[in-house]
Amino acid sequence: MLGDMKPFNLAGNIYFVGTYKASSHLIDTGDGLILIDTGYAETADVIAESVAELGFDIRDVKYILHSHGHYDHTGGTPKILELTGAKTFISEDDVKYISGWKPDHFYRDGQVISLGNTQILCVATPGHTEGTFSFFFDVDIDGKTYRAGMFGGAGTNQLKKAYLHKKKCSWLNRGLYFESVERLKQEHVDIFLGNHTWNNQTKENYERMLVSDTNPFIDETKWLPFLQKCEKDAEAVMLKESRDSFVNYAHRGASEYTPENTFLAFYTGMYMGANGIETDVQMTKDGVLVLFHDDTITRLTGAEGRVSDYTLDELRQYTFETNGQTDKIVVLEDFLRQFAFRDITFAIEIKQAGIEPQIADMIRKYHVEDKAIVTSFMPECIRAIKEYAPELHIGLLTKNVTDDTVAYLKQIGAEEICPRAVDVTPEKTAIWHREGLNVRPWGVKNEELMRQVYDSMADGMTVNFPDKLAKYIREQAEIQELFG
Ligand code: G3P
Ligand code: CA
Repeated sequence: MLGDMKPFNLAGNIYFVGTYKASSHLIDTGDGLILIDTGYAETADVIAESVAELGFDIRDVKYILHSHGHYDHTGGTPKILELTGAKTFISEDDVKYISGWKPDHFYRDGQVISLGNTQILCVATPGHTEGTFSFFFDVDIDGKTYRAGMFGGAGTNQLKKAYLHKKKCSWLNRGLYFESVERLKQEHVDIFLGNHTWNNQTKENYERMLVSDTNPFIDETKWLPFLQKCEKDAEAVMLKESRDSFVNYAHRGASEYTPENTFLAFYTGMYMGANGIETDVQMTKDGVLVLFHDDTITRLTGAEGRVSDYTLDELRQYTFETNGQTDKIVVLEDFLRQFAFRDITFAIEIKQAGIEPQIADMIRKYHVEDKAIVTSFMPECIRAIKEYAPELHIGLLTKNVTDDTVAYLKQIGAEEICPRAVDVTPEKTAIWHREGLNVRPWGVKNEELMRQVYDSMADGMTVNFPDKLAKYIREQAEIQELFG
């Protein structure tokens, strides 16, 4: 059974032996064959037959290199291994994606794999997956040396938040993708190989090749525009998501209208159109996690002392009042019990150091890991909770974003940066997106600032007046629909 692509000599010692949906390339090193990617399990026979049709013996495949661990690049490996005694290579970070075979070697970044006349440089280019590798090697054709190159994982759908959530991948893959593209731009490539045919128009170029004296695959002008397109595609994913999944967080609930951090405020926020709730967590003297903002209870109760100086029962004696409306202190567990099942995102701010494990345990107990982000102005608190519960998403609230801030966030694996609303511009949002960070400003004092933040393409914001933000978002969506 042959596939939907005819196997052919692409350039020099490189042969195409894959299918339209998943490319595979064979390199004839003069001392054995190297196969790059094995396609789907269902098309392993196609590869084997393509190799034979080109006049090669599949048993001569000595090395199998995998660009990354996804099934469409590794699925055929068990079958090909049955036919060859080949040694396999993949990144250790992508082993979690494979099944049915055990790799012989893990790549090192910058490693050169040599066989016969070919030396393949393996470059770590994470983003599409954690362990995506790209390949570069020289090819001699008619006494001239050309550089062949392949980006091992160009697809950007894998940068979507929903995908990253579902597959339990780090949001940092978003930032790593841009870094990888930058790295790839440093390479000169004359023969651009795609690990999917649509990357380098394999089919169209093959057809062109049949009727032309020149080889369309040898074209040094193709590589950089492709990488620029990859970059644009990744930016587009983030921009689209910043609109499609924008989070209007009712800040301490709808705190402009109702007593902050109370059920009245949370429900009001939700009914006003918020799709997120922001709240603050502290621990009482008797060890209960409660939702309370200030260091002391004075502003809301008139009494002296901190939350941690009072038991829950003592705090329950107080009534909070805003605009003539009243309500009582809320326990974090009661809040989660009532809101966990709703389609709402939570921004849970740690207001006391040392209570991180208890907060994480509560998030786990109510299974809201995927829709909660834990934030704090205290960098050590978000680091502590990430260390305790790596699956949780964390964000840093900060009054001053520097290069060090971003470096720290990347180092601790944070997903979100929360700058002051007045500091946010479209340019800064774009930069933080490229670092792989979700952007969620705070301190939105008025509607003008609210509009400015939304228009900066941030991913969310906290507002005391979620009704006004919900209205603005609706209006913008209508404008977008009418005028594009
Ligand atoms: O949106 C985060 C915001 O809540 C940070 O400020 O003082 O209201 O907790 P604060
Ligand atoms: Ca807060």
